[in-house]
Amino acid sequence: MRIFKIFAAILAAGLVSSFAAPKDDVESRVEELLAKMTLEEKIGQMNQLSYSRVEPMMAAAKSGSLGSVLNLVDPATINRIQRAAVEESRLGIPVLFSRDVIHGFKTIFPIPLGMAASFDPEVVEAGARMAAEEATASGIRWTFSPMLDIARDPRWGRVAEGSGEDPYLDSRMAEAMVRGYQTDNLADPTAMAACIKHFVGYGAAEGGRDYNSTNIPPTLMHNVYLPPFEAAVKAGAQTAMTSFNDNDGIPSTGNRYLLRDVLREDWGFDGFVVTDWNSAGEMVVHGFAEDNKDAGRIALNAGVDMDMTTRAFVDYIPELIAEGKVKMEDVDNAVRNILRVKFRLGLFENPYVEEGLTEKEFYAEDHLAVAKKAAEESVILLQNNNNVLPLKGVKRLVVTGPMADAPYDQMGTWVFDGNERHTVTPLAALRDMYGKDVEIIYEPGVKYVRSDDTSDIAAAVNATKGADAVVAFVGEEARLSGEAHSLADIDLLGAQSELLAALKATGKPVVAVVMAGRPMTIGKDLANCDAMLYSFHPGTMGGPAIADLLFGKAVPSAKTPMSFLRLVGQVPLYYNHNMTGRPTNRPIRLLADLPVEQNQTSVGGTSNYLDVEHTPLFPFGFGLSYTTFEYSNIKLDKEVYGMNDVIRVEFDLKNTGDIDATEVAQLYTRDLVGSVARPVRELKKFDRIDLKAGESKHIIFELPVAELAFYNSELVKVVEPGKFQLWVAGDSDSGSPLSFEVK
Ligand code: GLC
Repeated sequence: MRIFKIFAAILAAGLVSSFAAPKDDVESRVEELLAKMTLEEKIGQMNQLSYSRVEPMMAAAKSGSLGSVLNLVDPATINRIQRAAVEESRLGIPVLFSRDVIHGFKTIFPIPLGMAASFDPEVVEAGARMAAEEATASGIRWTFSPMLDIARDPRWGRVAEGSGEDPYLDSRMAEAMVRGYQTDNLADPTAMAACIKHFVGYGAAEGGRDYNSTNIPPTLMHNVYLPPFEAAVKAGAQTAMTSFNDNDGIPSTGNRYLLRDVLREDWGFDGFVVTDWNSAGEMVVHGFAEDNKDAGRIALNAGVDMDMTTRAFVDYIPELIAEGKVKMEDVDNAVRNILRVKFRLGLFENPYVEEGLTEKEFYAEDHLAVAKKAAEESVILLQNNNNVLPLKGVKRLVVTGPMADAPYDQMGTWVFDGNERHTVTPLAALRDMYGKDVEIIYEPGVKYVRSDDTSDIAAAVNATKGADAVVAFVGEEARLSGEAHSLADIDLLGAQSELLAALKATGKPVVAVVMAGRPMTIGKDLANCDAMLYSFHPGTMGGPAIADLLFGKAVPSAKTPMSFLRLVGQVPLYYNHNMTGRPTNRPIRLLADLPVEQNQTSVGGTSNYLDVEHTPLFPFGFGLSYTTFEYSNIKLDKEVYGMNDVIRVEFDLKNTGDIDATEVAQLYTRDLVGSVARPVRELKKFDRIDLKAGESKHIIFELPVAELAFYNSELVKVVEPGKFQLWVAGDSDSGSPLSFEVK
């Protein structure tokens, strides 16, 4: 409906032209416009400023020195600045307005780590589409999303924004978000350009401390950190953002190999590259540039097209050209890349946002419905002793904990435009949806996640008298994850664990619901609850989703997108690790049973700890259901495959319980011998399979042998002949392998 309204307006204004300009038309229009531009106008396109006041923005727009603005979301002000650019500047080049729309704009979806836990690209695409509908209604046509940083360290606050530890899952999420934001017609006024970030390797920050150095060697870079970005480029992502980190001493904003050789030459990326916030200027702090002028030189020569907020281009490129330190050709190419995206977005035909759309788009019913579905599919059932869940026969329910009624924190990190007034908390949802049949008794127990005050725990304990069950909502406030919010200790903070212990002591069935921005070390808390649902900040509709999961109207299907640690000292811990020469594959003797003065070589000798199991508390891909599933008759169609073959795997999957449910079936492979040691398992395919109670389905997975390829030590992508193993299972630690060979 909306697109026709705008189309009609443009037709009336006689401004009509083809929305989806054909490719060669775009290129000719780019060249025609570039030929008219002065150096100042070219550099203006390469300059992105963060919105402060309208006057300087209008002035910059009128002078043609404003390529893009971030952090302005008021349609009327956007149109004012846009009119200055389009109707008053010499060439009328539209400004591109941008925003961090990371997991929703007004309707907030689960944080991306939660969306990844759904293993559901369809719901992720739908969420991105709705975020774009809401953001473009404000005039935003470029989002700094998807964030694709592979993360193996939950101390890093930004694990919240990505899709976890696995390149295959991250790649599928990347493609889904690019499709959702951009659609297949970028000129659609509800489409917004995606931005793949942070290019690249930012998630490997040493110590899990944000912005810290990374040391990712070339084969690991190509086999783990780069693939999701390549998938997003192949899906048509229009922009990329350089990351803050230096990898092996080279800041990404000055990394010519990444920006020119890999992104452009190898992958054929033809959008534009923007720096992260002042990351050009930060190359001075890194000790990689003399000053901002030098930073501008390095960034442009490395392949950066647009400078976010440093002003390194707009202030210094004329001098750098005059001094022969940068080439006019590189300036022209940067401007080509930027203009190309602007033409593709249809900004020249349709530069203004129709004002008044926001009321209809924001929090639209269908948006809230998908946000609830996404939240339901993102909550992981980690434990369910004695099948306490779903709650049955409960007439009096105690609801407690600091996250039971925390509308702001429930939305999670990177929420600029969502409003907590629209958040439906678990307490509100339980009262509203189940309060007729169930008496809901609320006692906070602990007022805030960081509060050490235990004085309210007694009231929560007392409230359990006569109650049938207790649900304790614990976790993290939104600001404990996200940018610059890393933690060295990822246990539940404050008095939350004490609250759970006190509730456990009542003998009542205790359900813990965790809402957090990362996999926390909740091992000791598992002992103090019968069941645990784990939700990565579930967003606006988290309450209704969790209420339906608690009472069984919805059934958990989510799987862990990151390994859960027993102790933070295990970090980094991830499933797709190498075997090492001394794997620990037998029970080890822990400290508790070590004799005193035992001799030096009597224990271990393998890659383990003396004080804790070396395995994760919960492996990647793990998640329980209210039913159980049985995998059987797993068969390969051959024992030996050629390089061009497709491996066909058949198996039966049965819902062996009495509740309809969904299982995320996963296919893993292992290359037993390689020219570089290969991981013990790698996810190669997954699918959500709906099964009614007792139902069995015969499933076929197909895997081209080509997808067994990896980058060898010469950085050549190869499939090496040899023996392989293959698993079909419900997580990365289950199942028995089948063997096959590639010749
Ligand atoms: C921030 C973040 C980046 C974000 C940008 C614009 O520092 O690193 O993810 O898109 O600045 O807000």
